[in-house]
Amino acid sequence: MFQKIGNIKICIEKDYEAMSLRAADIFADCVAQNSNGAYGFATGSTPVGMYKALVEKYKNGKLDFSQITTFNLDEYYPIKGDHDQSYRYFMEQNLFNHVNLDKSKINLLNGQAEDTILECKAYDHKIGIAGGITLQILGIGTNGHIGFNEPNDYFSGKTGIVDLTENTINDNARFFESRAQVPCQALSMGIGSIMSAKEILLLAAGANKSKIIADMLLGRVMPQVPASILQFHQHVTVVLDTPAAEDIRLMLGYQ
Ligand code: PGA
Repeated sequence: MFQKIGNIKICIEKDYEAMSLRAADIFADCVAQNSNGAYGFATGSTPVGMYKALVEKYKNGKLDFSQITTFNLDEYYPIKGDHDQSYRYFMEQNLFNHVNLDKSKINLLNGQAEDTILECKAYDHKIGIAGGITLQILGIGTNGHIGFNEPNDYFSGKTGIVDLTENTINDNARFFESRAQVPCQALSMGIGSIMSAKEILLLAAGANKSKIIADMLLGRVMPQVPASILQFHQHVTVVLDTPAAEDIRLMLGYQ
């Protein structure tokens, strides 16, 4: 069931699996209407179930990836593309190796680029040539980051190189052998690039996301909570599992 907070459509599902299936349905509907659009992908633990459901849809003949172009939100820097924590590797394992994407239409930031400024500019240029992002998938960090746009005193614009905060390094250390191995920087689409997407689909699961989801939806729009900027976008859907919706449920009296 969808509810609205300001411009943002909210869908609360009973658990992680239902959240993932709902997100996959929204994605598939968008591809059915824009079969040659550009789709922005996110990594992290949250969208794994959605990618699994998208692979199922493809295997059942319900989703065709052959015409779409893809852009990933971000990549650690520096990191090798075949490192098992690189976002390239993540996408290959969770989606790209299992569906009929045209490899020439897959775009990821290069975590080994020598000239990061050039890499980021070229990425923005490619997004422009593709006609902009049709649908951008997002997760959210416990500190409110989207992509690797960390809390700051300004909203970032286009794709660039960013320093990761202690909070994000700690959150992501669970994926690496040790905290010291987490890269301290990343290449990331900026807040401006994300806000230029025609449609945005943000997913969050788990009780540890409940407070930041409430801050994002009900708090002030400010760069210290980067995701709060989504309150100004006209076409955002947020899909939550029940634990991630707990704070907004208490604040708004949702059942
Ligand atoms: P997570 O990360 O899905 O692993 O919680 C989300 C994010 O940091 O954007």
